Amino acid sequence: MTELPLTRVAASDAKQRHIRSAIRNTQSLAAIAHVTRDEDIAALTTLLSNPDISQPIYTLPDRIDHDSVASFIHQHLDERKRGEGLLMVSTDEHERAIAYYDIQVWPQWASCELGGAIDSDYQNTRQGSSGALQAFTWLFDVIGVDFICETAALDNVRTARLLDRIGFTYMGEINSKLPGGGLRPSRYWELTKNDWQGLQSKP
Ligand SMILES: CC(C)(COP(=O)(O)OP(=O)(O)OC[C@H]1O[C@@H](n2cnc3c(N)ncnc32)[C@H](O)[C@@H]1OP(=O)(O)O)[C@@H](O)C(=O)NCCC(=O)NCCS
Repeated sequence: MTELPLTRVAASDAKQRHIRSAIRNTQSLAAIAHVTRDEDIAALTTLLSNPDISQPIYTLPDRIDHDSVASFIHQHLDERKRGEGLLMVSTDEHERAIAYYDIQVWPQWASCELGGAIDSDYQNTRQGSSGALQAFTWLFDVIGVDFICETAALDNVRTARLLDRIGFTYMGEINSKLPGGGLRPSRYWELTKNDWQGLQSKP
């Protein structure tokens, strides 16, 4: 199993405090998603029950139902208290969950990994790319990480293209640890804040 992130630069105490505090106090991801709570269990269960959403994602519970989604939410609320993780959900005007964002944070390395998905009604319409772009900007500017790492299943072409287009550096294949045990081969990318800022300043 590969421990993430691959690149490890120790963050200063002040930087670590900033990141933990930002994670604990945030309520919204750039106004597109909110911190997931018990009120979201039903909507998130419906979203994640769709295999188009859950099949490519190794960090989700093996079985999707009310109880497993409730404990997934509670596990993230505990991580949020420690300043080490967030689960965010976007809902539409009918309170239907249309996207979710799962953020694993390593304050000691000033780094994080973002996972997630959008509802199949919205896939292949650039909305995944747009949501990911907003989330990466927010992670650098508001949460204060210095770099972001990403993993995807070997056959997840859309994620690979999305990350390559945004400017992530592909670093090779790794083995991701599955929550229920076992390993999944993954592709692995990183993007530093410096590289990100350089890309933003290009016309
Ligand atoms: C991955 C996901 C967020 C991408 O969002 P999306 O809105 O569907 O994708 P986009 O329309 O933004 O397209 C992203 C890239 O994939 C390409 N693409 C879209 N459909 C494709 C297909 N069927 N085959 C190959 N490439 C495809 C697009 O052309 C685009 O590449 P480009 O920018 O080089 O042109 C979304 O599909 C999703 O939630 N998938 C299920 C869960 C998942 O895989 N999550 C990520 C786990 S790491």
